[in-house]
Amino acid sequence: MWLPYRCTAKYVAASFSRGVAASFLRRARSGCNSAAFMPESAGFEGASGRDALHDYSVTHGESFWAAVARQRLSWIRPFDAVQDCDLSRGRIKWFEGGKLNVSVNCLDRHVHTCPERVALIWERDEQGSEVRYTYRELLEMTCRVGNLLRRHGVKKGDCVTIYMPTCPLAVASMLACARIGAAHNVVFAGFSADALAERIRDAQSSTVITVNQGVRGGKITELKKTVDAAVRGCPTVQQVFVSMRTENRVEMTDRDFALEEEMLKEDVVCEPEPMDSEDVLFLLYTSGSTGKPKGLVHTQAGYLLYAALTHRYVFSYHDGDVFGCVADIGWITGHSYTVYGPLANGGTTVLFESTPVYPDPVGEPINTEAWEWYYRVVGEGRCPVVDTWWQTETGGICIAPKPSEPDAEIVPGMAMRAFFGIKPVLMDTEGKLLTSNNTSGALCMAQPWPGMARTIHNNHQRFIETYFQPYPGYFFTGDGAYRSEEGYYQITGRLDDVINVSGHRIGTAEIEDVVNRCTAVAESAVIGYSHNIKGQGVYAFVVLKKGVDVQEAELSKQLNSMVSEKIAKYACPDFIQFAKRLPKTRSGKIMRRVLRKVVECDLDSLGDLSTVDDPAAVQEIIEGHEKLL
Ligand code: WTA
Repeated sequence: MWLPYRCTAKYVAASFSRGVAASFLRRARSGCNSAAFMPESAGFEGASGRDALHDYSVTHGESFWAAVARQRLSWIRPFDAVQDCDLSRGRIKWFEGGKLNVSVNCLDRHVHTCPERVALIWERDEQGSEVRYTYRELLEMTCRVGNLLRRHGVKKGDCVTIYMPTCPLAVASMLACARIGAAHNVVFAGFSADALAERIRDAQSSTVITVNQGVRGGKITELKKTVDAAVRGCPTVQQVFVSMRTENRVEMTDRDFALEEEMLKEDVVCEPEPMDSEDVLFLLYTSGSTGKPKGLVHTQAGYLLYAALTHRYVFSYHDGDVFGCVADIGWITGHSYTVYGPLANGGTTVLFESTPVYPDPVGEPINTEAWEWYYRVVGEGRCPVVDTWWQTETGGICIAPKPSEPDAEIVPGMAMRAFFGIKPVLMDTEGKLLTSNNTSGALCMAQPWPGMARTIHNNHQRFIETYFQPYPGYFFTGDGAYRSEEGYYQITGRLDDVINVSGHRIGTAEIEDVVNRCTAVAESAVIGYSHNIKGQGVYAFVVLKKGVDVQEAELSKQLNSMVSEKIAKYACPDFIQFAKRLPKTRSGKIMRRVLRKVVECDLDSLGDLSTVDDPAAVQEIIEGHEKLL
């Protein structure tokens, strides 16, 4: 595995989720990191040290967040109220009355103090061809894009879809949206045209920003062509800006504009829009267990504050450090720890265009073995591995070890401790709070925090039902966790049908939906199974319609290409098992629990089969599975 700055990294962060999300940082300069552990803590009734600060942050949430927000963010107008939250109703508001501009916080204030500090180091796919941009240059680039968008009619409150690989212009486009008050909707550039179209339509974007072609892992991807195909089904789209990542010409229509050429016509000064704390900063689509991907909404002040604070304290970021997060900007990790967190802190952030498996492949899950390897090989035994737990919904890291204290104990494979202001709890299946240690349950959060998502775009009801109704008064994460004797948390995995393939979150229902569209298919069940490279693999059980006579190998190919076309390549099944029928309950529900055990070859714990409609179906499935292996 090749990682820039590997040799001088200070910490290696291991997030199970977003790819091999190694974040690594380097102390680039010395002599400029005298900041106290938490400077604003002077007012915290004498609380010092990480544990005391954490206690204070959850028992005195209002004064904690107020002090941090005043200290860390530059406000155009101070906020009137710290929070107005009611978890039982899914109502979350922070810092109301306050006005600020996120791009000013990420750029202008650093340009005032250190304009020539490097903001971005772009590690291009072509090894050894890195490009640097200073804060002044990034601000200029952002202003040009902001002016361009404004000139083309993009206004405060609009939503711009960005379909680009991780590159400086993608960052500038995100910040340009923030500057003029438009929301951005970054769509991972590995998504298919159909998946992109679905997200453009749901976000009602009239503007798309893309590149002519992407370059990833030595391969060219036709991103502009994918946008063309997507836009055919999106009547709202009026304009597409195309950056030239490669020199190859692509077809341009009346609606398309060459981004770099247009930017040259623009001024390098762009007036920032004063935004309310609770105005939308971005939408980011993510998978749930049912239905369509949901556009989670993050707002201005709370999100930025939380991204900046977690970036600083989880990774012990100090002024002048170079910080690298290899996650793609199409995911929340890229938003919070490639773009907003590091830039809000005035850091130098590495944009990693390639893939961690190029030129050499590596593993993904942070089990103990992977942790040891990561520690020894990637971090050369000097860098603590920081296993961070969080989600698109949480905006930033919620549970992580505490590297800010040099001698903090870190247990391999454990996310461990709650971040400031975070109060995790475990619930049993009846919805009762589990108070003892050495116990497992559903992971919930007992208190709101500024970084959490505010709603699902166009569907607040789904937001409430998914996150706040399962355990009234709590935010439900969808994950299970174990709390050790010492009170440390370890994530045990999703409690629903969401899986994580090579760091890409996907609902099994989304894959089933595509498979079921095939005319030969009667029904299907898609299951995630542990995969030693990808974290989880995709296993599909497919039942054909009666009388259908097809070659299974041919049909498998067809199903794979359908999934790749409708969603993305990573969602394609590793195994397709054709079955005569699926084990069901008497009421007709597919018994996924049983299928999961079969796929994991854990036949001793198939569990209670008394509700299976026809036990012979289980036997058939087991035999079919054995044949396939
Ligand atoms: C999983 C990515 C184990 C979890 C930031 C969560 C983890 C989902 C960890 C969110 C961890 C995240 N250990 N599993 N440290 N961190 N997950 O929204 O199931 O793409 O719900 O956000 O990834 O994925 P998402």
